[in-house]
Parts: sequence; C-alpha cells; structure tokens
Amino acid sequence: MDKIRIINLPKIEDDRGNLSFIEEDNHIPFKINRVYWIYDVPGGEYRGSHAFKESEEFIVALSGSFDIVLHDGKEEKRFSLNRSYYGLYVSKLHFRRLENFSTNTLALILASTPYNENDYIRDFDEFLTFVK
Ligand code: TYD
Repeated sequence: MDKIRIINLPKIEDDRGNLSFIEEDNHIPFKINRVYWIYDVPGGEYRGSHAFKESEEFIVALSGSFDIVLHDGKEEKRFSLNRSYYGLYVSKLHFRRLENFSTNTLALILASTPYNENDYIRDFDEFLTFVK
C-alpha cells in the first residue's frame, strides 16, 4: 500500500471562483492515456470492485463525495474523497471499490492505459492468488 497516496492539486483561489488543474508530468506519476467519469450513481450503489494488472489511476471527487476501499492482498484501507483539489493515486494491483456516493457526485478518473478488459481482475479470490 506504500505507493498509494493522496495528491494535493494546485488551487488558485479567486473571488470569481476557484480553479485547480492537473499536468501529467507534474502532479501525477504517469502519462494520461484515458479520462473517464462516473456520475448519476443511485443511492447505495457502488462502482469498481476490481483490480488492474497494469493500469494506474488518479481519482478525484470533482463534486460530491465517496469512499475508495483499497486492498493490496494483505491489508485494506479506506480513503474518503470530498474536495476537487486533491485526489487519490492508485498504483496497479490494488483491488478497489468506490462506495458511499453522495447525491450528484461526479468522480473523475485519469488512467495510465487505454481501456482493456484483459487488464481487469474482477474476482477477489483470483486477485489474492494473482498478487501472491
Ligand atoms: P467498469 O470499469 O467495470 O466500471 P467501474 O469500475 O467504474 O464500476 O466499466 C463498466 C463498463 O464500462 C464495462 O463494460 C467496460 C466499460 N468501459 C469502457 O468501455 N471504457 C472505459 O474506459 C471504462 C472505464 C469502462
């Protein structure tokens, strides 16, 4: 779990409204190959529940809030995201589940690889075997 960390982003405060930004070679430790977002999550639903063999991600709560529960095969850790000026860096081989979404949450995810279903490990027991 040592590579996992909250990364604070620049926050340009302004009376007209605040501004934050992400540069791939500056704020996050990988080249951005894909951007996707999760929204309109019904109350009580969760997303994720898988690990990636290769892909790294950076996850930001652009609005609203949610929890990310991570497992590295040994321990589990929970992170709460609720501000748009920081995010969670998740390196490869971490089983993740996004849950506790507040109403109107917008989750932004930057990924180091294009979408590839073969990169997913969707079964937790398979993940435990894979990381051993
Ligand atoms: P999935 O990654 O399982 O969703 P989450 O982890 O957010 O719960 O993806 C759900 C579906 O969307 C799955 O059929 C694959 C598809 N998908 C893409 O086509 N491209 C993408 O970049 C992502 C993230 C998912």
